[in-house]
Amino acid sequence: MPAHAKKEDLLRDIIAHAKEYGFVFPSSEIYDGLGAVYDYGQNGAALKMHIRDFWWRAMVQMNENIAGIDAAIFMHPETWKASGHVDAFNDPLVDNKDSKKRYRADVLVEDYIQKIETKIEKEISKARKRFGESFDEAVFRETNNRVLEYGKRIGEIRERLKEALERSDLPEIGKLIADLEIACPVSGSRNWTEVRQFNLMFDTKLGSVSDDAGTIYLRPETAQGIFVNFLNVYKTGRMKVPFGIAQTGKAFRNEIVARQFIFRMREFEQMEMQYFVKPGTEMEWYGYWKAQRLKWHHAIGIPESSYRVHDHIKLAHYANAACDIEFDFPMGFKELEGIHSRTDFDLKQHEKHTGKKLQYFDSDTNESYVPYVVETSIGLDRMVLAVLTHALTREKLEDGSERLVLRIAPPLAPVKCAVLPLVNKDGLPEKGREMMDRLKVDTECQFDAKDSIGKRYRRHDAIGTPYALTVDHQSLEDDTVTIRERDSMQQERIAIGEAGKVITDKTSMRNLLERL
Ligand code: GAP
Repeated sequence: MPAHAKKEDLLRDIIAHAKEYGFVFPSSEIYDGLGAVYDYGQNGAALKMHIRDFWWRAMVQMNENIAGIDAAIFMHPETWKASGHVDAFNDPLVDNKDSKKRYRADVLVEDYIQKIETKIEKEISKARKRFGESFDEAVFRETNNRVLEYGKRIGEIRERLKEALERSDLPEIGKLIADLEIACPVSGSRNWTEVRQFNLMFDTKLGSVSDDAGTIYLRPETAQGIFVNFLNVYKTGRMKVPFGIAQTGKAFRNEIVARQFIFRMREFEQMEMQYFVKPGTEMEWYGYWKAQRLKWHHAIGIPESSYRVHDHIKLAHYANAACDIEFDFPMGFKELEGIHSRTDFDLKQHEKHTGKKLQYFDSDTNESYVPYVVETSIGLDRMVLAVLTHALTREKLEDGSERLVLRIAPPLAPVKCAVLPLVNKDGLPEKGREMMDRLKVDTECQFDAKDSIGKRYRRHDAIGTPYALTVDHQSLEDDTVTIRERDSMQQERIAIGEAGKVITDKTSMRNLLERL
């Protein structure tokens, strides 16, 4: 988006646009909001529903061997011991004794690194001004002493942090903060507590009498709801390996760092699929799902250059392959989706903790085994942010004016079609209403007769409505309307009788599913 030379400006603009046009509001805003919790407004809820629908259809409708379920948010507390979340789902935190503010220790170090990176950027922009046209950034980065020194320092700090995190060496992370003389952004002091582990799960009590109540957790991932239902779905669905179980739903994490809008939330939604395969075939399926998921992302028309795949070199102890699909968010490339080959870790853990056999019987070979699992896991809210990041465009028009347009793939748009009487008189609103009443059983349309036609087009451009049907005086005579396309702003005339089919064809989810 050329109008956003700086990426921070883009995030700021997305947040402002999302609020002004009913996509995302801070939660309980009239009470000043709640950190890292957001509400979706009328357009955001519809956009989110369509992305979820595209994912669900791509998984469940398009794959005969994938079953969709909807497991509860609350699960037996032992689930989270088996999965490892009670013992190991932690972030290192540190408190400043003066401001009483709590921080993620690794993020304090990352922020420090960011400041050095900003210094590098400043050197580059100074040099660019000095050398003008002849400036070669790559050469400058490789040869300028100050930039090289900053780069070396960043490398050293990163390495120290990485090693300390891998060893869970909390005193070393504390020492790193002290050595770098990192101060609290609020109090300005370096008066830190020691670094401690902080479990990210929210807990609550089950039962109406507090004495009897047991501690249970709000699920931190939807995946475990799938693992505990492996046998149920396998038996009742008469599934044959390889087969998948998919679900979408809320997950909760008490994130210490609450920022970056809907990128990192405390209550968010995941779309996860666990694919159960014969041990030894998991790498083939891992490759297959990596390719399939990229196809899904590219199908919605965001350029491939906005995505990249980051293969994990250091793997979790239970995984034998893992990667992130990263997206070029306003904050830079960050994780949007994870694809993990999780071996038989989860099912075996649940076997251990329940004493039940979670095995598949292969009738061809007469053998039973615990299947291996390839998981695809994407955050729905992060996907909404990815769509908004790509879609929000400020355009200069031929007449010199500007328009803000959301170039959302038509099947995902909150409203598919605006029905607009050219003027609010002469029988045009009545004609428009008649058409609206017929169209609304087929698709999501909005009738709008207030303000000038130009203003109404702009309002719908700003929420991403791909088509507008305008009723004018000619419509009264020959039962035709103009159809305007959002991105090109081109208009043509069509018969009112055909309008429903034209709009549903152009905005059908089929158009995306056919690209998979
Ligand atoms: N079952 C595997 C799992 O949960 P994860 O990498 O922790 O893996 C998967 O999470 C996806 O969930 C991430 O790629 C991200 O899109 C989303 N996600 C994780 N934490 C999030 C948060 N705090 N806010 C929004 N989305 C989040």
